[in-house]
Amino acid sequence: MQTYPNYSDFPSDWRDQKRSDAEFISRFISKDANLLSFGCGIGYLESCLMESIGQTFHVTDFSPYILNYRPDLKSKFIAIDDLSNTRFSQILLNQVTYSLNECDLRELLNQLHNCLEIRGTLIIGFTETSSSFRAWTFHILTRFFPKNFSAYLESIRNNLSKRSQVTKSQGWGYHRSNSEMIDISVAMGFEVMNFSRSSSQSYLFLKKLPRNES
Ligand SMILES: C[S@@+](CC[C@H](N)C(=O)[O-])C[C@H]1O[C@@H](n2cnc3c(N)ncnc32)[C@H](O)[C@@H]1O
Repeated sequence: MQTYPNYSDFPSDWRDQKRSDAEFISRFISKDANLLSFGCGIGYLESCLMESIGQTFHVTDFSPYILNYRPDLKSKFIAIDDLSNTRFSQILLNQVTYSLNECDLRELLNQLHNCLEIRGTLIIGFTETSSSFRAWTFHILTRFFPKNFSAYLESIRNNLSKRSQVTKSQGWGYHRSNSEMIDISVAMGFEVMNFSRSSSQSYLFLKKLPRNES
């Protein structure tokens, strides 16, 4: 298997895209933010973001493979289990939500809500899929592959995810439209401050709202 010992060994078009995403995100990071990137993966985007904003920040991920493979990221790593003791002013969730079904995404947003300071902000970077395009694609596919096509896709996804978290690529993930992402976020106690698109993905900027503790 091809492995890349350092970030500079990764393909340059991949690095260019990540750097450009990081530069886009950096415009929305407050000066002196106490920032966490949740689901940092190998951390290349995070490393570019640190360069752009001129400061290090906390990162975390749950994948044991990823924990041992993060070539040159100079960050403050925090274990997921320790998050409940810490509060951040901003949390970045970039290219993570595609691996979560709706139930897990709600649960994660609930946990991140608890990790944010009052009026803290959550930035979700995701690959937006228009629901009408998805419905149309599904209609065409089921027309030509009528034998339980959705069950077939689900079995591929399950097999991939059983083998490894890392093999779950974005192509097999749960893609959402902008309005689906907004609905889930609002239901989990966030207010939408802004929505923006870069050349490669969409970003939702959310503010934590206080919850009714009744
Ligand atoms: C595509 S990588 C994103 C890396 C980086 N944030 C970026 O934008 O380049 C997605 C990462 O999210 C992590 N991830 C997915 N679901 C997670 C969860 N529920 N808890 C923690 N990490 C998760 C995966 O382990 C993977 O490393």
